[in-house]
Amino acid sequence: MASIQPVPGWLRAPDDANALAPSVWPSSAHRDHDGRLVVGGVSAAELAERFGTPLYVVDESDARARAARMLAAFEAAAASVGTSVTVYYAGKAFLSGAIVRWVTEAGLGVDVCTGGELAVALAAGADPARIGFHGNNKSVAEIERAVEAGVGTIVIDSEIEIDRVADAAARAGRVQGVRLRVNSGVHASTHEFLATAHEDQKFGVTLERAVEIGTRIRGFDSLDLVGLHCHIGSQIFDSAGFAESAERLLVAHAELARLAPLPELNLGGGFGIAYPSADEPAPIEQIALGIATAVADGCRDHGVPVPKLAFEPGRAIIGPAGVTLYTVGTVKPVPLDGGPWRHYVSVDGGMSDNIRTALYGADYTVRLAGRVSDETPSLVRVAGKHCESGDIVVDADYLPHDVGPGDLVAVAATGAYCWSLANNYNHVPRRPVVAVRDGMARVIVHGETEDDLLSRDAELAASGSSIETESPERSDTSDAAGGAPA
Ligand code: LLP
Repeated sequence: MASIQPVPGWLRAPDDANALAPSVWPSSAHRDHDGRLVVGGVSAAELAERFGTPLYVVDESDARARAARMLAAFEAAAASVGTSVTVYYAGKAFLSGAIVRWVTEAGLGVDVCTGGELAVALAAGADPARIGFHGNNKSVAEIERAVEAGVGTIVIDSEIEIDRVADAAARAGRVQGVRLRVNSGVHASTHEFLATAHEDQKFGVTLERAVEIGTRIRGFDSLDLVGLHCHIGSQIFDSAGFAESAERLLVAHAELARLAPLPELNLGGGFGIAYPSADEPAPIEQIALGIATAVADGCRDHGVPVPKLAFEPGRAIIGPAGVTLYTVGTVKPVPLDGGPWRHYVSVDGGMSDNIRTALYGADYTVRLAGRVSDETPSLVRVAGKHCESGDIVVDADYLPHDVGPGDLVAVAATGAYCWSLANNYNHVPRRPVVAVRDGMARVIVHGETEDDLLSRDAELAASGSSIETESPERSDTSDAAGGAPA
């Protein structure tokens, strides 16, 4: 988390401020003989030249490999306790047609939580039966759309939703698979978790009422209760919180399973990644095994069969596959009390393309992307161009002392919750996303132009105002045909 101290306790001055820690960067990331960062076989300099900056870059092979590894890890863990598993990609992390294709081709389902996400998943050809639909306040229209599309499961988040989903399914003449979202009272974040008796938050029903509400769901002919669901938080580094949550959920699961078959247990997502290299999440295989073992032990204690398992990872699949490229505009040294100097490195994006630092105090890693330098590492804070002092992209890291205007820099692990949380603060157009693979680059999400923003202004659009923009994002369309792996 961003620190109020000048330098966070975990941050160490690197021996080499050009080094790319493998845990933080996409697996293909390396430097070419000119010292330029290369991702997916394409140099950052070429990407910046062709598409402009800021630029979201996603390493397609890396994302596909992480999806496949996630599935393999959970399949092996489930098999070790005699059950099976479904892994849904949590689209909220970053959803686009290309991403849906990558994850479904890897064998994952898709978890959506709005009509918009559902529309993307369906348009991209995801099998509706392998879509899970979440949300604490789904509209009746969204529920109807999901039912009509044949979505495999709808997660019932509150008592009020039971009738809404049951009625929509009855009207459509369907029996709708549903899960019931339950608060286990476990809050997990990074490597700590807190277990409380009650959860003071908007999602789900209380554990105490899960059996009663589950039984009510079972009273509807148009609903099929497939299992309970729980999601305990984000950026979780080990299995302890999941195991505690599973143990608690299994009390209600076992009671419901004794009344009628309850085939599944969904323990959500939240598997953590390294943002700075000081983050050390346990390998996903270890976490998966820890969870599966806890579920199997709990089921044995309660005398019920081990259910099929389901999970919904987002960040751990797409987060480390993404980097953002920026161009440095200004550098300002600021003396710190009794400590080193901090260099404010201002880049051409900011909280409109990555709001996580401002919103959650998230930490990130930054490196020079267009060259290397032998200069001594200097403490930097990468700031954006927005009119707000909290507009920080990287709270604290080190860059070579000679970082200056015109330098290309890359911020690592921006694949999740950056583009999906992008906004137009200060009328900054949202930037394109480019997928790189085997030396080729293609736009997978177009950027906006200032004209796009003006066209949404009813007054200005009516008067036909337009401006000439020379922003390089315009080139993203023409370059989209530039060829790329299918
Ligand atoms: N399933 C459910 C029900 C969720 O609410 C979430 C995330 C996930 C799965 C996926 O979690 P993941 O594996 O991606 O951690 N904007 C925040 C994260 C919000 C997560 C919301 N729910 C951030 O940027 O850190």
